Amino acid sequence: MRISLKSWDRHIVKFLRRKIVFILFLFIFFLAAFTTLGTTIVQQHSYNRRPVEGILPQIFPNEEIIEFRFYSYETEYRYPPINVDFRQKIDNNNLDLPVVNPHPFKYILKADHICHQAQNASLIIVVKSAAPHFELRNVLRNTWIPKAKANNFAVVFALGYNKLVQQQVLQENAKNRDIIQEDFTDSYLNNTYKTIMSFNWVVEHCSHIEHVYFDDDDMFLHIDNLASYLKVQQNKTDKNLFSGSMAIKGKPVRNPSSKWYISWEQYPFDYWPPYVGGSSMIAHMAIIKDMQKIFPYVLPLNFDDVYLGIILRKLHVKPTNNTHFDNTYLRNFDKLHSLIANHGFDDPRLYNSTFYKIFPEV
Ligand SMILES: *[C@@H]1O[C@H](CO)[C@@H](O)[C@H](O)[C@H]1NC(C)=O
Ligand SMILES: *[C@@H]1O[C@H](CO)[C@@H](O)[C@H](O)[C@H]1NC(C)=O
Ligand SMILES: *[C@@H]1O[C@H](CO)[C@@H](O)[C@H](O)[C@H]1NC(C)=O
Ligand SMILES: *[C@@H]1O[C@H](CO)[C@@H](O)[C@H](O)[C@H]1NC(C)=O
Ligand SMILES: *[C@@H]1O[C@H](CO)[C@@H](O)[C@H](O)[C@H]1NC(C)=O
Repeated sequence: MRISLKSWDRHIVKFLRRKIVFILFLFIFFLAAFTTLGTTIVQQHSYNRRPVEGILPQIFPNEEIIEFRFYSYETEYRYPPINVDFRQKIDNNNLDLPVVNPHPFKYILKADHICHQAQNASLIIVVKSAAPHFELRNVLRNTWIPKAKANNFAVVFALGYNKLVQQQVLQENAKNRDIIQEDFTDSYLNNTYKTIMSFNWVVEHCSHIEHVYFDDDDMFLHIDNLASYLKVQQNKTDKNLFSGSMAIKGKPVRNPSSKWYISWEQYPFDYWPPYVGGSSMIAHMAIIKDMQKIFPYVLPLNFDDVYLGIILRKLHVKPTNNTHFDNTYLRNFDKLHSLIANHGFDDPRLYNSTFYKIFPEV
């Protein structure tokens, strides 16, 4: 059949009309893809060529300055601003360094009786909790916390400051006397402040307790399994114990719209150091004390667990992976009975009902 040019035209127009949405979609997709790729390349490129800043040598005249540019984690890792052997500095009791991570916050609630009254405790559990999570904290107080106390573990909640709920927090603490709180804003990106507060508090008040456990308020915590694990650790007396659900070769997120975004300026390496997921970490008090000593001298990072990984690396300590701390799977109901901790239990009712399923005898 012969098709005239005119009818070809009609065919094309018809085709285009039918596929117009699809074609538009393709166009936008490729445009977006190339824009992202282009931005990434430009960012990396200009980053590589960034000149050394002139200010750092003035602030740290006596130390080796790490210049800002893109580095390989494998071969060039030296987290800014200074490259000193912190282990040696601590051993020589010589931490006369410039402070780059000040912690200018004041305690609102101090709970200094907790460890004082727990002279024989073998573990202090610090539960990092968001200020408005009243209901969740109350469920924890009625579920695993009594079990923890029966095992001779001390427990405290760590909160930041939230003006909207502060009166309620004060009332809650008057009743339960188990909260520490400083005056920094309670928010996700201030998590590192909360962690540093927790480390400071533990070292200040609980240094007689051999092990420390850091927990998030939405973790399902299996106290019996934690107690068995701790018994094994007590025999090993590994002063460098820092363990949990570990990430190796974690990649920093470079997408500016992500919750986990970090700029090349802030972190110039392609990988994170090995780190333990911040929602459940167990450690020996000895390493907690060393880490706490060097926080002021290591540039801070919003992600508390990655920051702790950086600190550990500065101290030549390798964290260890613990298969019973499950940060990978959300609400892993099938394995809860054999895990120590599992996350995703931010709904108080779900937490409560799950607890009574796992511990029907309570
Ligand atoms: C702690 O242990 C010591 C020695 O075992 C004992 O004498 C003391 O009463 C215990 N204190 C508490 C508060 O349990
Ligand atoms: C972190 O806390 C500080 C001190 O309260 C506050 O100025 C800052 O806005 C907070 N940052 C975020 C991201 O909430
Ligand atoms: C710890 O060591 C003691 C003495 O060697 C031993 O009796 C006990 O079974 C050990 N406990 C654990 C949990 O390994
Ligand atoms: C840690 O253990 C978990 C659970 O067995 C496993 O999935 C993960 O790959 C391990 N991580 C590392 C870094 O070894
Ligand atoms: C938690 O569950 C137990 C057992 O089902 C129930 O008695 C209790 O009222 C529940 N508590 C809350 C705060 O939901």
